[in-house]
Amino acid sequence: MRNLLSLCLVLQLAKLSYSFAVIPAKATTTTSSTSTIATSTRLSAASKKFNTGEPVSVVQSSSASKFSGAGPIEVNMNAYNIPLEEIVEQWTAELSPATPLQQEGVYLGAKDKKRLLVDTLKVEVARVPGKGLGLELLELAGGRNGVGITVVSGFVDGGMLAASGILEGDSIAKVAVRKTSQKETNGGSATALEEMQEEFDVATECLDFDKTIEAITSLPAAEADDGSEILSLTIKRLRRKPKITVNLQYPPEQDEPDVSFELFSGENLRRALLVRGTKLNDALSRRFDSGGMGDCGAEGTCATCVVSVVRGDDLLNPMGLTEKQILEKNPRWRMACKTIVGYGMREGALTVRVNPKQW
Ligand code: FES
Repeated sequence: MRNLLSLCLVLQLAKLSYSFAVIPAKATTTTSSTSTIATSTRLSAASKKFNTGEPVSVVQSSSASKFSGAGPIEVNMNAYNIPLEEIVEQWTAELSPATPLQQEGVYLGAKDKKRLLVDTLKVEVARVPGKGLGLELLELAGGRNGVGITVVSGFVDGGMLAASGILEGDSIAKVAVRKTSQKETNGGSATALEEMQEEFDVATECLDFDKTIEAITSLPAAEADDGSEILSLTIKRLRRKPKITVNLQYPPEQDEPDVSFELFSGENLRRALLVRGTKLNDALSRRFDSGGMGDCGAEGTCATCVVSVVRGDDLLNPMGLTEKQILEKNPRWRMACKTIVGYGMREGALTVRVNPKQW
């Protein structure tokens, strides 16, 4: 019977009274989809096996780096986790139109989008017949058609996911089961092993408690205890965005006090300075464009936006070739228009001097 996937989900129906408007959406799919892949590779060795119950992989893939331009993640994103009390208040469900990356539907979001981001992680463990997932779930909000928000609220000792890196406050967006098997094939005089892979998955993002359980239990039960069945969970986690504290210094003869402000990782330095009214147009700059009165509009050729980095150059994106060539005699200078702060989702303190030729 398909619904015999052994779960150890402990019901905690303490529905919280947070004001939450569930947006009507198209019917959420809770039916498992199945695909079968026969790899074309003929294997002569035994199939891949994993220690049952041990995490096979935990993949960190920050959605933040995609939209902010902060580049590939170079830090442990768990440094930006937020307290459970805050997570519970900040999760929300949003109706999103179709984009090249996702279908129209209801997706998890953060109420405070300026400060928080929704990260996506993938956790995989080898399945164990008769062993539960070991997750406690809590419904934060529920609405019509099974739409809601359900999060992990605790762990049960001995469960498959107890040491998987999933945290309280995470929400399960998708669950998949991957079964790998082998069959012998004869090709002439040689016998080879052909690997077959079957995959079943259910979407669980923005479902209430009952629909979440219904979706997970629709997956086929674990049968093999040799590590050939992998349970794969896509997890959504709320985190704060990393911040860069900028200290801005003006040339002494301008007699301006230092200015401090915060930026989020991935922001462009020139844009951020212009928004704050900082004049960057260095009249003494050595131009590499066609010249003129103004700047080149962030093309990286007029050098009027150059700043000198006093502290925190490790928080910036690497220089491009053109920028490096233009500024080769001043290794501490950067073109603000080509500078991303908090590159790699790093955070820290940055001190820059504007109009460095005037110092
Ligand atoms: S604005 Fe011209 S180089 Fe930055």
